[in-house]
Amino acid sequence: MQIQSKLPNVGTTIFTVMSQLAMKHQAVNLGQGFPDFEGPEALRVALNRYMHEGKNQYAPMTGVPRLREQIALKTAALYGRPVNADSEVTVTSGATEALYAAIAAIVRAGDEVIVLDPCYDSYEPAIELNGGKAVHVELTLPDFSVDWQRVHDACTSKTRAIIVNSPHNPSGAVFSRADLDALAEIARRHDLIVISDEVYEHIVFDGVDHQSVLRHPELAERSFVISSFGKTYHCTGWKIGYCVAPAALSAEFRKVHQYLTFCTFNPAQWALADVLEQMPEHYRELPAFYQDKRDQFRAMLAGTRFKLLPVAGAYFQIVDYSDISDQDDRAFCEWLCAEKGVAAIPVSAFYQRAPEARLIRFCFAKNDVTLQAAATRLQGL
Ligand SMILES: Cc1ncc(COP(=O)(O)O)c(C=O)c1O
Repeated sequence: MQIQSKLPNVGTTIFTVMSQLAMKHQAVNLGQGFPDFEGPEALRVALNRYMHEGKNQYAPMTGVPRLREQIALKTAALYGRPVNADSEVTVTSGATEALYAAIAAIVRAGDEVIVLDPCYDSYEPAIELNGGKAVHVELTLPDFSVDWQRVHDACTSKTRAIIVNSPHNPSGAVFSRADLDALAEIARRHDLIVISDEVYEHIVFDGVDHQSVLRHPELAERSFVISSFGKTYHCTGWKIGYCVAPAALSAEFRKVHQYLTFCTFNPAQWALADVLEQMPEHYRELPAFYQDKRDQFRAMLAGTRFKLLPVAGAYFQIVDYSDISDQDDRAFCEWLCAEKGVAAIPVSAFYQRAPEARLIRFCFAKNDVTLQAAATRLQGL
């Protein structure tokens, strides 16, 4: 039976394609963004314990109260925003579910939503499935900064929302306070809802503070702020995330969440509540942990002809390979995987209209031996 696709332009994601290619060529996989090391032992022990203690039935629809309470405490401590754990915090099955629920809660047929290219690949299909249209505004190379005038120019009477992402995947660029002010100005002028994807909130380098939209009272009033425990606790496979939004926005968000998944894996919520409460040093030490990996990886590539773009946050290193090859980035990634045994992601995959740049993304959320193995294979390029 044939059906007319609602997502005719969607195929297998480049992350899956490159991971399969990495397996085929037994390549070191610096493509897909997941750590090859474990999170805190205490987290896994707690998960086991809660399963054995019988926390195996449906969790409350909005999330385990203890976990929501810990998220609210962390939000107040880090961003100075007191949020109500009962009405403003919802636990979701990964940030991906939260992004979808936020988009579905607000986008109506014909609405436009601004996305900043290069961007995470789940935004546009979620907008389209809800009858909306993604309007792509490109970030400015080489530093992937936002040209807020271009964002303003892209707004029309149909613009309903903007999706922002800091720290940014794939570039690692981070928002400054001035970015938040510019975003607030545009959101006010065009009456936009903001969906702020902050899954790498705890991975910001060089002593800089993460500029969450929750720090900005005016923005916080009109924003869904989304995060992921997968990124913070090295457990991407658990798919636990959350959304912080004002009560009225959260109420609509929860109507979608209720029928999308209803609730999220129960024992992991209890375990995460424990580590948030008992080990705040884990997320406080995360910047130094990943900064060390960033610095090591950059030092390892220093002798190659890759030009390393700056990395202010998240766990990705974009490199310019134009001194090595004229191939387009997808062909170059395929060549790199097959011939050099290292998998990366072509940056054009994050664009609607990719610029004439020769850029690929490596993930450095890897053990030192993995990074060293990759670097050894890349030497001589
Ligand atoms: C920018 C960004 N947003 C959202 C997600 C999805 O997070 P989760 O795995 O919690 O669904 C990712 C994961 O790679 C990401 O990089």
